[in-house]
Amino acid sequence: QSIALIGAPIEEGAGRQGCSMGPKALRVAGIQDALTALGHDVADNGDVSPRAVEIAFDGTANNPEIVTGFAREIAKAGETALNDGYTAVYLGGDHALSFGSVAAALRRADALRRALHVLWLDAHADFNTPQTSASGNMHGMPAAFFCGEPGFGEMLECPKLPAARYHLVGARSIDPAEVVLLEERGADVNDMGEIDDKGIGAVMRRILGEVERDDALLHVSFDIDFVDPDTAPGVGTTVPGGATFREAHLAMEMIGKTGRMISLDLVELNPFLDDRGKSARLMVELAASAFGRRIFDRPTQAA
Ligand code: ARG
Ligand code: MN
Ligand code: MN
Ligand code: MN
Repeated sequence: QSIALIGAPIEEGAGRQGCSMGPKALRVAGIQDALTALGHDVADNGDVSPRAVEIAFDGTANNPEIVTGFAREIAKAGETALNDGYTAVYLGGDHALSFGSVAAALRRADALRRALHVLWLDAHADFNTPQTSASGNMHGMPAAFFCGEPGFGEMLECPKLPAARYHLVGARSIDPAEVVLLEERGADVNDMGEIDDKGIGAVMRRILGEVERDDALLHVSFDIDFVDPDTAPGVGTTVPGGATFREAHLAMEMIGKTGRMISLDLVELNPFLDDRGKSARLMVELAASAFGRRIFDRPTQAA
């Protein structure tokens, strides 16, 4: 495959600083070499450099000007890469980058007259709106936006995702207002209890079966807090009880085998909080799994 790396050093969607260093950390951890070693052509398109735009939302939303600036630039860079036949890999950056990356995927699927499914690997649902959010942090809102919730004004034009095609996996921290909205809209929520009960393989098989059934394209949004913080400490919003190393790799390998992923977000890595690059390296390894690397191919990790 041809893969385009798109850096998105956004941190203004999160409640603390540091995610802006994520794209660099993922590059230092060897994202380009890891994907190239699998036989892919990997172009590094560098980082997007947005301007703040004039915009305001009704309710609570922090830094809407720069988050919107990023979203529009990311959507533009992503759409160009997808139209040129690349699989897009977004190097985050906090999860607000997905306002743009999912918009690009939705536009692309629409142009191809294909359905899109979004797989959201995350401890959180990110289904708040400026009306429901207690924190105002916009990294907690992108899924509500692209599923068509009101309150985001003129942020970005894009087709809406039916909530049933928003598949959340790994959830263990969802705000009360989000729970109500997710249920009302019919989103596909798979929490850690579900994974413990059925196994990650069964949960993923069911979701990817729906993607297959719809002959759909797939956007994968990987929030590093999907993984347990003991395994991936480089994150601002730690929630205990996350996916194990093995569960995360199996999920990514199963995604890779579908051949349907058109874009992948690698988000919420905070290098300031990481332990000697441990989380950055894990994210690179997991991306490699999603692009065809088998678990027994993985090189032994240097100290
Ligand atoms: N639900 C909380 C909020 O809205 C936390 C969101 C965390 N999101 C994330 N992408 N880490 O503030
Ligand atoms: Mn998230
Ligand atoms: Mn999260
Ligand atoms: Mn479903």
